[in-house]
Parts: sequence; C-alpha cells; structure tokens
Amino acid sequence: MNFEFTEEQIMIRDMVRDFTQREIAPLDEELDRNGFSHALYEKMKEMGLMGIHFPEQYGGADGDAVTSALTIHEIAKGSASIALFLDAHWLAADTILYHGTEAQKTKYLPMAANEGIFAFALTEPAAGSDAAGIQTTATKVEGGWLLRGSKAWITNAGVADVCVVLAKTDPDAGAKGITAFIVEKGTPGFLVGRKEDKMGMRGSNTTELILEDVKVPDENLLGEIGGGFKIAMIALDGARISIGAIAAGLAEHAMNIAKDYANQRVAFGRPIAKLFAIQEKIANMAIGIRATQLMTYDAAKLKAEGKRHTKEAAMVKVFGAEMCSKTCAEAIQTLGGYGYSKEYHVERLLRDAKLLEIGEGTSEILRMVIGTTVLAEKD
Ligand code: CAA
Repeated sequence: MNFEFTEEQIMIRDMVRDFTQREIAPLDEELDRNGFSHALYEKMKEMGLMGIHFPEQYGGADGDAVTSALTIHEIAKGSASIALFLDAHWLAADTILYHGTEAQKTKYLPMAANEGIFAFALTEPAAGSDAAGIQTTATKVEGGWLLRGSKAWITNAGVADVCVVLAKTDPDAGAKGITAFIVEKGTPGFLVGRKEDKMGMRGSNTTELILEDVKVPDENLLGEIGGGFKIAMIALDGARISIGAIAAGLAEHAMNIAKDYANQRVAFGRPIAKLFAIQEKIANMAIGIRATQLMTYDAAKLKAEGKRHTKEAAMVKVFGAEMCSKTCAEAIQTLGGYGYSKEYHVERLLRDAKLLEIGEGTSEILRMVIGTTVLAEKD
C-alpha cells in the first residue's frame, strides 16, 4: 500500500515485518494453545517495540501514531494475539503519556518501554458498553485513595506490572465522577482474578482484577479528579485505530492462506484460483483489506497531527472488524473441509477476528458514536 510513510517509518515497518516473520508468526499456533509467552515479550522489549512511539526522553523511539499503527499492523500479520497484547499495553501507557505529570511520565514511561507490561482497567462485570456505569470506588484517605471493586475482561491484567484503573470518586456524578489511577502490581489488596477461557486471541492474557481496599498514593492519581472518563475515551479513540491495524493484518494473514491454497488446489482439472467464484472471494478480501489499511493510516495521521479522531477511529474499527471476520470466514470457505480443520490455521484466525467486533467498543456502540456525530455535523 502506498500511503505516504516517512523513510524512518518505512525502516521501522521493515524491521517489524522481519521480526514478525522470524519470531512471532512461527509461535501463533502455540500461543493459541498455551497462552501468553513471556519469552516472546522479552524479545519484543529487546527490539524496542514496547515504547516505539514514546519520546526518546522517556525511553521510546520517538515515533508517532502512524508508527504505532504500522507496528501493530505488521505484528498482526503474524499473530493477532500479540498485536492485541501490544495494543492493550499502549492503551494504558498512553494515558500516562498524554495526561501524566512530568514525574509520572519520568517514572512510568521508561518502565513501559523497557521493563514492564501495562494494562487498562475500565470494564467491570456489570459495566462494559456503559463505561460511565462502573461501580469501583475510590475514597479519599490520608495520603491517597482507597480503591474497592472489581474489573473484568482486562487484557494483560494477569501479566501486568502496572494498571491504569478507572474508579468512581463521586458515585453520583456519572461520567464526571470517574477518576484514573496508576496502580502497581504487588500493592496490597490488588489481586488477579479468574482467567478468561476465550474463544480466540488466546495468546493474550485476559483476567478479572479484584481491588480490596487498595491504597493508591496521591501522586498516582492520573489527570484531574473527575477527568477519568475523558481520559478513557481519548485512550479508546487511539486504541480503536490499533484495532483497525489488527483487522488489516489479520485479514491479510487469512487471505494469504486462501490465496496459496487456491493456487495449488486442483478441482475440475485446474487450480481453483481459475474459478470465478474463488477470484471473487479473493477480490473482496483484497478490497476490504486495502480500505481498512487506508482508513487506519488516515485516522492515525489525524491522531499524529493532534486532531480529534473519534469518528474516524470508530469507523475504521467497525469497518475493519467486520471485514476481518468476513475475510476469515471466506478463507475457510475457500479451503472447504481443510479450512474447518485446525491444521490449516484459518479457523484460529476466525476465532481471533471475532474479538475485534466486541473489544474496545462493540460495533453497535461505535455505530451509535458515528451516527450521533454525523447527525450533529453541519455540512
Ligand atoms: N473524547 C473526548 N471526550 C469524550 C469522548 C471522546 N472520544 N467521548 C465522550 N467524551 C466526553 C463527552 O464530550 C462528555 O463530556 P461533557 O459532559 O464535558 O460534554 C463526556 O465525555 C460524557 O460523554 P457521553 O455523554 O457521550 O457519555 P456516555 O455515558 O453517553 O457514553 C459511550 C458514551 C460512547 C457509549 C461510552 O460509554 C463508550 O465508549 N462505551 C464503550 C466502552 C468501551 O469501549 N469499552 C471497552 C473497554 S476495553 C477494556 O476495558 C478491556 C481491555 O482489556 C482493554
């Protein structure tokens, strides 16, 4: 795809592509069976991937939102689970990058780049789409805050060193009563709960979190008291671009398997790639992938330029996620019975793809965001 990347972005893209082919893609099946790999995380850290878009002064490689989209996109061609792991790490770390005090940035960003895994804890057992409906509370005490409640479906939580936790500091103030806190692993009362036995994306770790009167010091309050909902929404705007990047990479992975199969499988005396029905499937896949890539980098560019990208990020997430599920299902159909077997991998890709329509804002919620935004726009 010929988006206008800088020379440096092209260099990073090629470096991540090579790393993905060598170190990530060969592990994707094993990750699906055995779950998250610390050994692979160590290699990603050594490659400098964990903070690739952080400023150099905080241990990063000085990239921007396009660089991070490129990184996620390339990784997703080898393993959607690992791309999701990195997306969730940045979802949390970026809240500190954009809203942290200098002291918080100096302490936590080098950690996110070089030492530890981060997680973003918003969702609760009874509050997913209705993010303002969370019930975890934060009560002011001498020198800090006491956090009490539970979180669900938190990507990376079971392996995380640092979590950004959203809690109600004013339970009667709706979205304006939510505040963000930085909570370190090992803080008394901060416990990892049940691990989710997920349909797909099994190479990323997803668990509950339990907060039993966790004392968080004043200096770990992130942003303004009552400003947590906006911090979360801004973070999700960015992460939804990453989901577009995952959708494009994962769909390309599925299309490549379908292409290879179609070119070698003979039926009716010739490769099935010669059949119009198969050409049409591949054409639709290629169109969807290209559109998703363009939408992803367009939204990433808006973000890199500091422009509001709520609508564009929601659009690429909805379009990309649905395109990706369809592409993976059509890849299975292209392979017929073999596609339905674990041996040919596309069944795993379809299981991974389904998450993209749910996590970080369902397609239904995001259509609501897009619809209300467009309806309010003056031409
Ligand atoms: N950027 C900046 N501000 C925003 C914003 C955005 N994208 N979206 C909303 N806001 C602001 C609004 O402007 C408003 O501020 P004012 O009152 O000052 O005008 C305030 O936030 C409240 O906004 P709404 O009234 O629109 O809020 P709402 O309660 O109606 O909710 C919603 C809107 C879009 C449905 C929101 O709840 C939402 O996005 N839900 C989906 C949540 C989601 O994606 N969850 C998945 C999290 S992923 C996770 O936790 C798991 C993991 O492992 C990563």
